[in-house]
Amino acid sequence: MKEHAASPSPSEHALLSVRDLAVDFELEGGVLRAVDRISYDVRPGEIVGIVGESGSGKSVSVLAVLRLLNVYTTGASVNGEVLFEGRDLFALTPKQMREIRGKDITLIFQDPSSSWHPVLGVGRQVAEVSLAHGKMGSDRVRQHVEGLFESVGIPNPRIRYEQYPHEYSGGMKQRAMIAMAIANRPKLLIADEPTTALDVTIQSQVLELLRNVTAETGAALILISHDIGVIAEMADRVIVMYGGRVMEEGPVEQVLLSPRHPYTRGLLSSLPQIDKKMARLPTIPGTPPQMFQASAGCPFEPRCGLSGDRDPCRESRPPLRQCGEDQFSACHFFEEL
Ligand SMILES: Nc1ncnc2c1ncn2[C@@H]1O[C@H](COP(=O)(O)OP(=O)(O)OP(=O)(O)O)[C@@H](O)[C@H]1O
Ligand code: SF4
Ligand SMILES: [Mg+2]
Repeated sequence: MKEHAASPSPSEHALLSVRDLAVDFELEGGVLRAVDRISYDVRPGEIVGIVGESGSGKSVSVLAVLRLLNVYTTGASVNGEVLFEGRDLFALTPKQMREIRGKDITLIFQDPSSSWHPVLGVGRQVAEVSLAHGKMGSDRVRQHVEGLFESVGIPNPRIRYEQYPHEYSGGMKQRAMIAMAIANRPKLLIADEPTTALDVTIQSQVLELLRNVTAETGAALILISHDIGVIAEMADRVIVMYGGRVMEEGPVEQVLLSPRHPYTRGLLSSLPQIDKKMARLPTIPGTPPQMFQASAGCPFEPRCGLSGDRDPCRESRPPLRQCGEDQFSACHFFEEL
């Protein structure tokens, strides 16, 4: 049986390959392993959802991929390998990395307010990104930005270009951030809880916009959410994280309709009904670990209803093993599910 996590070489079709990525924070009380040797691929044009409870390492893992964790001020240490179009991102100079970040890979954050400079016009801020990374001259850039505004559903682009962030609603700011993110036609967008700060009705509009812009530009999308319902709506494939590790991975329909990890089953119980045929699942008792050393066994063991106090759960790390077509589970006993 294939052991995904142990795979030494990234898939040749991958746009992004993450291999054995680990992030440790040195804190006063000891070392916190926030991301514990995760591996996954993102193929061109696909939408990969990363889901998991608060503190499971979703944000830290993508910040590490983009080399945005400030290892000096946070005392973080990052290990593993990240290949983007075959290039080893951890071997690039800071300048090369900045070029990739603004152009080929872009990030959309959760909070649209704190991401904008308050005293610069929104249009100008989008224009600066276009000028810094694109090939166009300053004479054409305004037209380009107004076109982007139109494509992300910002009405009256001419007027909106001049306005300041405080004149934008949360939803409009998030649309402008998406405009900025696609300004240079990136190959990969990473959206970290892009709609969490928005009203429910606006959330679905922004998600639909994200889906449309990725389809139109052919960009791949890593969509991070603690809401498995959002992932179910949007993603082609899903990565379920817990305690800094990948618990389960696979095509979204397959994972949601036949989860092969007790943690995924628990998460799904928060969704009222995905499919009428799916049995109702119990909620997960307990809370996620706040601080943990890399546990020797399975991080989910204290909350797991399937473990039955069995030794392997406490003593050995469950590898991510193939459990279905293109589906992988990090549970010693997934066959029992
Ligand atoms: N700069 C930091 N210094 C120390 N610990 C950190 C730092 N940033 C994150 N952590 C810790 O790393 C772990 C993973 O955090 P992360 O932000 O990736 O979680 P998350 O899955 O994105 O959660 P959320 O859904 O709340 O955004 C948490 O235990 C968090 O407290
Ligand atoms: S390895 Fe054991 S503790 Fe972990 S999810 Fe599977 S049964 Fe539960
Ligand atoms: Mg986060």
